Amino acid sequence: MASTVLNAPNSVQRINGLDWGSDVGLKRSPNSNFLCVRTSANVRSPRLFVVRASEERDAHMKKLGRSDAECEAAVVAGNIPEAPPVPPKPASPAGTPVVPLLPLSRRPRRNRRSPAMRASFQETNLSPSNFVYPLFIHEDSATIYPHRLGTWVLFQSVSKARDVGVNSVVLFPKVPDALKTPTGDEAYNDNGLVPRTIRLLKDKYPDLVIYTDVALDPYSSDGHDGIVREDGVIMNDETVHQLCKQAVSQARAGADVVSPSDMMDGRVGAIRRALDAEGFYHVSIMSYTAKYASSFYGPFREALDSNPRFGDKKTYQMNPANYREALIETREDESEGADILLVKPGLPYLDIIRLLRDNSPLPIAAYQVSGEYSMIKAGGVLKMIDEEKVMMESLMCLRRAGADIILTYFALQAARCLCGERR
Ligand code: PBG
Repeated sequence: MASTVLNAPNSVQRINGLDWGSDVGLKRSPNSNFLCVRTSANVRSPRLFVVRASEERDAHMKKLGRSDAECEAAVVAGNIPEAPPVPPKPASPAGTPVVPLLPLSRRPRRNRRSPAMRASFQETNLSPSNFVYPLFIHEDSATIYPHRLGTWVLFQSVSKARDVGVNSVVLFPKVPDALKTPTGDEAYNDNGLVPRTIRLLKDKYPDLVIYTDVALDPYSSDGHDGIVREDGVIMNDETVHQLCKQAVSQARAGADVVSPSDMMDGRVGAIRRALDAEGFYHVSIMSYTAKYASSFYGPFREALDSNPRFGDKKTYQMNPANYREALIETREDESEGADILLVKPGLPYLDIIRLLRDNSPLPIAAYQVSGEYSMIKAGGVLKMIDEEKVMMESLMCLRRAGADIILTYFALQAARCLCGERR
């Protein structure tokens, strides 16, 4: 098995790169369960989605050779067509045991016996409006000359996403080392990469919903989400002070939702007060309520070069062994004024999503992180799993567990799939 992985095709390597947003090998499964009607605000050619199977289903009607009106007239005249003959009992394979019926009052399979019935009783649905598309930005994507390739690529990604009903993005910057400092002051530079990108995007797409990441790690020379003291301690309240400035700077540029992912204590309340004091009472806060110290973030940190320079993030991110502790964070974030509560990672933490769903009336977000995405991509490339089906199932499971929205690198690919598009 190890050698299979080592000899994997080159495309596996791309999983580690910055191209998570691009989708590989998308094929719509012919009998996919996931259908949608386009909802995008900027749909130029609205297309109602029609289940193609209906044509086949109606084929026998056509054989009668009567129009609807003729059929109706025939019924009114009492010429009711004969019932179709009872089909012969389908043969069982030779050797099938002959047994009495089990005395069951309930056979749950009855409600699953046809595609139409399964569709009727489906409890959870998936729509492109549930997705938030993460975009990785670097200097070239926010340059003030919009003809530069980076900006063009950024606009392309957003426009492709909007075309299939994904109108929310979250921005993650790759900041040059020269701009990183121990106190991460570049985080609140009004002319920094993130504020410039927000202004570019809002200028072209005023109704795009822009989420931002609030944390110091992309700007910290230590690669931590907060300011690091000489002895390695991450300083809480001093970090919160910086985060407030960062959030206000993002709001000033036009961010719709600021998302503290740093896990410092008290940052939601402090950011709320800072935003309100500057007149940004309409800007929402999506709090990373239960963010775990997870190894599933590996590919993201590689891509953005944001690995902690020393130690780990266990003094601020949560212990993956803990469940009840997520309730403590939930209560704090709710009372401090969070608008949306986020759980991260996604699939390995479905129980936490359900816990928050059952304990808070606020919208719940799940973050399907880079490691989850890469595993599905790699499994698909190695032909160990059906990438598209596993992608759709994993997203549906996050919804079933209680997530209203999902931050996912699959946003574009999954939305295309929901809209019945081929690549
Ligand atoms: C950091 C941040 C991380 C991710 C999003 N924001 C990494 C971390 O906590 O080190 C990870 C996302 C992913 O793995 O997809 N504030």
